[in-house]
Amino acid sequence: MSAIVTITFNPALDKSTSIAELIPDKKLKCTRPVCEPGGGGINVARAIKKLGGEAIAVYPAGGEAGENITRLLTEETVSTLAIPIKNHTRENLVIADQTHQKQYLFDMPGPSVSKQELEQCLNAIAGIHDVAFMVVSGSLPPGVPPHVFETISSIARTKNAKLIVDTSGDALKDAIKAGVYLIKPNLTELALLAGKDKLNSASIGHAATEMIAYGKCEVIVVSLGGLGAILVTKDLEMSLTPPALATKSTVGAGDSMLAGIVLGLMKNTSLADAVRYGVACGSAATLRPGTELCTKKDADDLYSKIVIKNIREYHVS
Ligand SMILES: Nc1ncnc2c1ncn2[C@@H]1O[C@H](COP(=O)(O)OP(=O)(O)OP(=O)(O)O)[C@@H](O)[C@H]1O
Ligand SMILES: [Mg+2]
Repeated sequence: MSAIVTITFNPALDKSTSIAELIPDKKLKCTRPVCEPGGGGINVARAIKKLGGEAIAVYPAGGEAGENITRLLTEETVSTLAIPIKNHTRENLVIADQTHQKQYLFDMPGPSVSKQELEQCLNAIAGIHDVAFMVVSGSLPPGVPPHVFETISSIARTKNAKLIVDTSGDALKDAIKAGVYLIKPNLTELALLAGKDKLNSASIGHAATEMIAYGKCEVIVVSLGGLGAILVTKDLEMSLTPPALATKSTVGAGDSMLAGIVLGLMKNTSLADAVRYGVACGSAATLRPGTELCTKKDADDLYSKIVIKNIREYHVS
């Protein structure tokens, strides 16, 4: 079977702990930390596994945190292709304040990746056979310039693989310039891409449609948190809305959503149904506490409850 490859240029070992209350200038007693492998693409690969699929996670890894990421992914039976780097992989901190039921996410800077190490990453990706989807998700660390997407896009084309990108700022701009199949910006990321301060619900479709007509991107899925998503292609625009949910934590919702979309596409369902599954998976992740990703059961239960509405449809004869 063809493979799904996820690429995470800036992985992290996510350390979660909880404290009674976040108070300055005080020694705060933490519970024993729980470590999880993290970073966009790594989380997408983990969510795909939880949903019953398979993906190969490609990422640079350095030092003990890098080794721990590979060990933890292997324990979750996620296939890994780690490229050794000299600098140490970052460790992020997630702190839950029990008194206020709030979560604080401390996102550390990633280690610098050398030119040679980046080339090794790209060669490793180019060396994977029979790839159906390449998913690049997360930020770029120092040493990985936004124009890396020129090479990634050209590798995807050579492989006849569909490139899916979930990132922001210049990296997302360069990805579209180079050519992608699908992007999944949230509202802030889409506004930045469109060069607007803010977008309202009426202008989302317009901004996405312009981007599709202009650039080299076929599908835009704009994620809207609790409001679900808007799917835009040159032929259609539709909204996909989840029911109101008692959410526990929205961390990992975007990654779970992407996992659902790719798995849906892999199963050759229609684009709308793949995005519907993505919305179900994203919403399923919000039912779980902390950094937990979606479960297959929650996603499958939610799938039929996602309401789809056509906003625009072109019938090409
Ligand atoms: N409060 C919520 N209630 C129900 N579903 C939600 C909620 N927040 C997020 N989701 C689901 O998760 C999907 C992705 O969420 P969101 O738009 O917040 O992505 P994101 O900003 O990329 O998230 P992330 O912070 O994980 O990168 C949404 O389309 C929706 O399906
Ligand atoms: Mg996101």
